[in-house]
Amino acid sequence: MTAPSAVTVAAPAKVNLQLSVGPRRSDGFHELATVYQAVDVHDEVTLSAAPHTTLRVEGVGVEVVDVPTDGRNLALRAVAMLAEHAGVTDGHVAVHIRKRIPVAGGMAGGSADAAAALLAADTLWQLGTPRADLLRLAGRLGSDVPFALVGGTAAGIGRGERVEPLADAGSYWWLVLPSGGGLSTPEVYAELDRLRGNGGADPVLSEQLLTALAAGDPRRVAAALGNDLQEPALRLRPDLARVLRAAAQPPALTALVSGSGPTCLALAADPPEAEELSDRLRAAGHEVLLARGPVPGAHVVPAL
Ligand code: C5P
Repeated sequence: MTAPSAVTVAAPAKVNLQLSVGPRRSDGFHELATVYQAVDVHDEVTLSAAPHTTLRVEGVGVEVVDVPTDGRNLALRAVAMLAEHAGVTDGHVAVHIRKRIPVAGGMAGGSADAAAALLAADTLWQLGTPRADLLRLAGRLGSDVPFALVGGTAAGIGRGERVEPLADAGSYWWLVLPSGGGLSTPEVYAELDRLRGNGGADPVLSEQLLTALAAGDPRRVAAALGNDLQEPALRLRPDLARVLRAAAQPPALTALVSGSGPTCLALAADPPEAEELSDRLRAAGHEVLLARGPVPGAHVVPAL
C-alpha cells in the first residue's frame, strides 16, 4: 500500500462520572479510581509529511490562546515519542489541530490531541505499532491519554492511565458549560491536598455507578456521580457555584464540575429534556454545548 500523504484522526473529550482521589503518592501523582466517558465533542489532528515539523492550532468555536505551541504541546510530544520508539529518523510533520474541546477545561482536550497525534503518526508512517505499545506511550504522555485512545465508558486506575472498558447499556445527554479562564490541574490537586491535610482513603470504584451503567439508566447514573476535585475547584473558582446552581435546575438530573474544572456539566434524562435545559441556560446567558456519550476513542477519519 502506498503511504498516505496526510492522516486525520478525531479524538473525543471525556467526562468523569466518578473521580475519587486518594492520597498524594511519592511521585507527586494521586492514586485514582475514576470512571471516564468519551463524548461526541472531538478535536481533529491532521499530520502531513513536511520538511520541518510545524504546528498550527485552529479554534472551532473555542479560544485557543492558552494552547502551548512549543515543545510542551502534547501532540508534538506524542509525535516525537513515537518517532523515537519506532526509530523513525526523518519523522518531520506538519501538525494541524482543529480544536472543539474547551481548552484547560477539565475535559482532557490536550490528552485527546496527544492520542490523536499518536494514532495519526502511526498511520502516516505505516508502523502498525501494537496497541499495547501505543497505550503504554500514551500513559507516559499523560494520565488521561490512554483513555482518549480507548473511548466508550471505562474505569481508570493507578494515576488514571490504566484503563478497563466497562459495560454501559445507556446513552447519556450532557450539557457542557465551558467557563473562561481555565484552571490548572496541578493547582486543583494541590488545593485538594490542602483541604485534606494530604489525607484521603484509598479510592475504590463505585458499585452503585457500575450497576447503574450496566442497566443504562441515566437517573441512577445521575444519583451515583461524584467528583473529589469539585470542592477544590470551587475554592479556586467560587464563581462556578452560580453556574452549577443554574445547571442543576430541573429538568437537569444533576450537575457537577468536569474533572479539575472549570467546565461544568449537567446530565439530562433524554434529548428533549437536554434541548429544554440548554434553551433555558442559553436564555440565562450561559454558553452551552450538547454532548452525547459514550462514543468510541480516537479514530482515523477517512479521506474524502
Ligand atoms: O498526567 P497529567 O500530565 O495529565 O497530570 C497533570 C497534573 O495533574 C500532574 O502533574 C499532577 O499535578 C496532577 N495529577 C495528579 N494525580 C493524577 C493525575 C494528575 O496529581 N492521578
